[in-house]
Amino acid sequence: MNTPILTVEKLNKRFFLHEQKAFIPSCADVDLTVFKKQMTAMVGPTGCGKSSVLKCIFRTYLPRSGRVLYHDEAGHTTDLAQALDHRILELRHSDIGFVTQFLHCLPRKKALDVVSEPLLLRGGKKEEARDAAADLLRLLNVPERLWHVPPATFSGGEKQRINLARGLISSPRLLLLDEPTASLDPDTTERVIDLLSSIKTRGVGMLAVFHHPELVRRLADHVVELKSQGTEALGMEGNI
Ligand SMILES: Nc1ncnc2c1ncn2[C@@H]1O[C@H](COP(=O)(O)OP(=O)(O)OP(=O)(O)O)[C@@H](O)[C@H]1O
Ligand SMILES: [Mg+2]
Repeated sequence: MNTPILTVEKLNKRFFLHEQKAFIPSCADVDLTVFKKQMTAMVGPTGCGKSSVLKCIFRTYLPRSGRVLYHDEAGHTTDLAQALDHRILELRHSDIGFVTQFLHCLPRKKALDVVSEPLLLRGGKKEEARDAAADLLRLLNVPERLWHVPPATFSGGEKQRINLARGLISSPRLLLLDEPTASLDPDTTERVIDLLSSIKTRGVGMLAVFHHPELVRRLADHVVELKSQGTEALGMEGNI
């Protein structure tokens, strides 16, 4: 049976650019569902709002309108578009993971600690968290000499591996993925595909954006197409 863990209804987000006195629509009337043990992929042209939808779900962005219904294990539903910040933080620690397009990390933390942190925040033991982080870094081909170095100076591909390892270490219930393999070599991309497939069979529901259509074909159970957005010159009225 398909169990929905996330239902997005008529999600809208736009930004107001003061200099141009214009609204930039970032996503409009998006409807989608993510099911347990399945992956929903979002596709569409650049700028159509794929990253914005993920950020609205993770509440990096506050949606303008629409509902983002998260159905938890206990059967309760939370509208992430309306929930208080402390509830959002709680869910980020316990249920919802996000592998962002770019790694934003604390400058002086070493790679191993950046990766093991989500497990520690969930109450995991330090040794076990370190071991799990080391296993993932090995699997993702991150050379051991880099494990004790802060990722700030890493190459794009190395940073992406750290970002993926950090997102995957705690097996969240809902995993958001924004182009997680865009700067990886073919060998590491294959490892990530295997890893995502095995995480899926363990029960994680995923909402993903991929750079390559081939990955959508291989991994996604459902595909949602977003339409490209125009610019509305609406003057000063209206909220964001
Ligand atoms: N913080 C922001 N401030 C202003 N405009 C923004 C912001 N974030 C996104 N936008 C605008 O919203 C639109 C959608 O951007 P978004 O990054 O969601 O697109 P995307 O579909 O992920 O594109 P890509 O495929 O290139 O990653 C773009 O026109 C972008 O300029
Ligand atoms: Mg994007």
